[in-house]
Amino acid sequence: MKILVLNGPNLNMLGIREPDIYGASTYDDLISLITSHCENKGIEVKCLQSNHEGDLVDYIQQAFFDKVDGIVINPGAYTHTSVALLDALKAVKIPAVEVHISKVNEREAFRQISYVSYYCSKTITGKGFDGYIEAIDFLAGAAS
Ligand code: DQA
Repeated sequence: MKILVLNGPNLNMLGIREPDIYGASTYDDLISLITSHCENKGIEVKCLQSNHEGDLVDYIQQAFFDKVDGIVINPGAYTHTSVALLDALKAVKIPAVEVHISKVNEREAFRQISYVSYYCSKTITGKGFDGYIEAIDFLAGAAS
């Protein structure tokens, strides 16, 4: 089981950016949590982050050639704007789960649209870092 965890713009600023919304823990803390969870479960995981939409498209395409079994994606603000990310997911046809740290459904109107949700089999919001773990376990469960 091979999983790619993809984080979009400004998620490298976790711990610094709006801690009242995203919490005090850092991006490195998130990666440690994911890495140790996957180690315990015997899941091979790769975590990537970029502030650039095209990089995220490239990472999704590369997942196809790397024979990745599942993608956990938090596209950050590109959630609400990017048809390119949706099309990349549709192109590779790899099972994917969308994660948001905050309760996007209770925030501004512009955050209520998610393009990737047209593809993702599940969307997890407002569960903080635990949302990523739930997404990984969902994909691992669906694959076994
Ligand atoms: C986010 C929610 C988005 O609206 C925002 O632009 C982010 C983070 C979340 O994890 O809650 O950057 O995806």
